Amino acid sequence: MAIPSARETDYERIVRIAGAGLGENPLGMTGAKAQQQDKREQDLRKKVLIKSYGCQMNAYDATRMADLLAGQGYDETEAVDQADLVVLNTCHIREKAAEKVYSELGRLRVLKRERAEAGLETTIAVAGCVAQAEGAEILNRSPAVDLVVGPQSYHRLPGLLAEAAAHRRPVDTEFPVDDKFGALPQPAARRIRARGHSAFVTVQEGCDKFCSFCVVPYTRGAETSRPPEEILQEIRHLSEAGVREITLLGQNVNAYHGEARDGRLWSLARLLEGAAAIDGVARLRYTTSHPRDMGDDLIAAHRDLPQLMPYLHLPVQSGSDAMLAAMNRKHDRALYLRLIDKVRAACPGIALSSDFIVGFPGESDADFDDTMRLVEQVGFAAAFSFKYSRRPGTPAATLATQVEDGVATARLHALQALILDQQTAFNRATIGRTLDVLVEKPGRHPGQVTGKSPYLQPVHFDASAALVGDIVAVRIEGQIANSLSGRLTGHGTASHASGSRPPAMALASGGRP
Ligand code: 5AD
Ligand code: SF4
Repeated sequence: MAIPSARETDYERIVRIAGAGLGENPLGMTGAKAQQQDKREQDLRKKVLIKSYGCQMNAYDATRMADLLAGQGYDETEAVDQADLVVLNTCHIREKAAEKVYSELGRLRVLKRERAEAGLETTIAVAGCVAQAEGAEILNRSPAVDLVVGPQSYHRLPGLLAEAAAHRRPVDTEFPVDDKFGALPQPAARRIRARGHSAFVTVQEGCDKFCSFCVVPYTRGAETSRPPEEILQEIRHLSEAGVREITLLGQNVNAYHGEARDGRLWSLARLLEGAAAIDGVARLRYTTSHPRDMGDDLIAAHRDLPQLMPYLHLPVQSGSDAMLAAMNRKHDRALYLRLIDKVRAACPGIALSSDFIVGFPGESDADFDDTMRLVEQVGFAAAFSFKYSRRPGTPAATLATQVEDGVATARLHALQALILDQQTAFNRATIGRTLDVLVEKPGRHPGQVTGKSPYLQPVHFDASAALVGDIVAVRIEGQIANSLSGRLTGHGTASHASGSRPPAMALASGGRP
């Protein structure tokens, strides 16, 4: 293994390879008696299904909720008809995402009735950003819902479930002063292992930027940063359980300014440095960043920290200065392009990604053209693009100059076609190179495994599933849609782990391929 997990003993490796579903001590109690006892204990436990929508921060919250509920006697299930508790962890960012919740609640209402006819109780909880934005209104619209809990108060779920059991239909959308993350339990190593070798850690929540289209400052509140010691402790715990790759999350992650015990403020760059010093942490990533908070120390971290992966998601939203001003983005096109140059100078070959909104109120053909030119100028490895969605309560929702839907759709298609071209070219440029791949899981075909390159590309190749969790060197030989195929050549050349950089890629010099 090129980057051995310093913490993993041979015994743990056996457990990991044998399967994450095993107990903490699979070699301990065996035989029919132990199985019967396990079964009796299992029968007493309830089942929870947590369905998460939207961003990675919601995905992280879902794991923390599952860990909390595990201590309350709930095991996770994927079978909705077997769930005693269903938690919808919702997203409010665009209208479609928010509406999905109500159609899901309609289906759950039927299921709840069917289970009741069979003598089974079902508790339905709505969590996440729709819960925060709509609160008690959800109870009015959906009679099957038993409790509503916002993203800042889900650590109070045990008490809320007790209230729900007494049919009080609690709603908790407060922004409590108590430390939510501090109040949540650290998961057992067995639970961490079952989730694989990459993990998210939320380090920052909320946003103070107030882009005129965005609900986040209202649903997630003002920017807050977790204390660095607490974050590093969580990362240490994950690493000890075998996690190799950590993604630090925040709605505006590079605005991170956590206060340490000595009263000093840590930047995201300093936090990354602290995380990189933890034994076993082989890869670090962070998302999502705002151009205005892209400090020189963070850019330098891309040059200096071997564990920091050469990938940056830096949303620009539009290439038109008029649109950027109307969006209240607090940066212009020139600032974005300057940043890209600096980042590429610090880390040649870095993969760049972005978010775009088309059809923002007032967007003309010329404005959209500016976006297309910006994309051509930068050359992205990946990007997300959305049609503007009018969100009640945000400043842009009241603008009279809404763009016709057909026009917005045509622009979206044109932009997505350009981005796909660039993504394909970026992937193609890796053919012939040897990349470090973090092996994630067995592949679809026997004898095959799947992993991730430093540039977040899925890579498929033939190798033993015993390599899951290792970082290995793979020579890239082909491209299938958005994934790569290759051949195992050894245990990690560690082009990043050792500090050296890969040669600049075709797109790194800018311009369309
Ligand atoms: N309409 C469309 N897209 C939006 N986003 C945020 N708000 C809206 C909206 N009202 C997009 C932005 C952001 C990403 C997470 O979602 O591009 O970066
Ligand atoms: Fe929303 Fe803008 Fe904040 Fe991103 S920076 S979360 S788009 S308000």
